[in-house]
Amino acid sequence: MRLDKFLHDSAGLSRKLAKKAVRDGRVRLDGEATHDPARHVAPSDTITLDGSVLPWPAPRYLMLNKPPDCICATRDPHQRTVIDLLPPAAGEHLLIAGRLDIDATGLLLLSDDGRWIHRVTSPRHAHEKVYLATLAEPLDHSAEARFTRGIFLEGENKRTLPATLARLSETEVRVTLTEGRYHQVKRMFGALGNRVATLHRERIGRIRLDPALEPGDYRELTAAEVAAFGS
Ligand code: URA
Repeated sequence: MRLDKFLHDSAGLSRKLAKKAVRDGRVRLDGEATHDPARHVAPSDTITLDGSVLPWPAPRYLMLNKPPDCICATRDPHQRTVIDLLPPAAGEHLLIAGRLDIDATGLLLLSDDGRWIHRVTSPRHAHEKVYLATLAEPLDHSAEARFTRGIFLEGENKRTLPATLARLSETEVRVTLTEGRYHQVKRMFGALGNRVATLHRERIGRIRLDPALEPGDYRELTAAEVAAFGS
């Protein structure tokens, strides 16, 4: 990360004061004075401010219950984003693991730890993603078999990976995927001649949406939840 961001996160300096502290020569990197606030620093560096060693800031890991009508982007000039739901300081530099459509709701994982985000989303790890969907039309009797076999989505030449479809009622289903193609759940039901009316993500890997979180609320992940995606 940049040195001025490190000073902000570790020492609580505003970005302006962090830049000034660097330019004034108050910051040393492995014993050497540095005057470049944009310089890249890593956890292996020893960074001091006025002679005191600064700790490397702990990464942040959050779960958020995404409400409808906000987009999974870090900023947008026209629409409310999921980051806008967080207090300004909490939302800084967060990355989103696995986006949800604007009208979809439920579990979203966010972190400023890029390697962890990669472990959550990488197709290599194939973590399960579980969705509750309500459908516009009653479910076709062949749907479960087609989800298991894999479906050719419009414009693609590779079947979807085997997915599990559990019928909860004529128009309510629970879908478990191990991949994350663009609008995948909606397109899979579209290929069956149906339409998804509502979509809610309940789980990613071993992390379930906390039922105590109202739409728009968030909480820090526990150490066990963070560790569920390996290290
Ligand atoms: N599949 C979709 O169609 N939309 C989502 O938001 C997530 C999965």
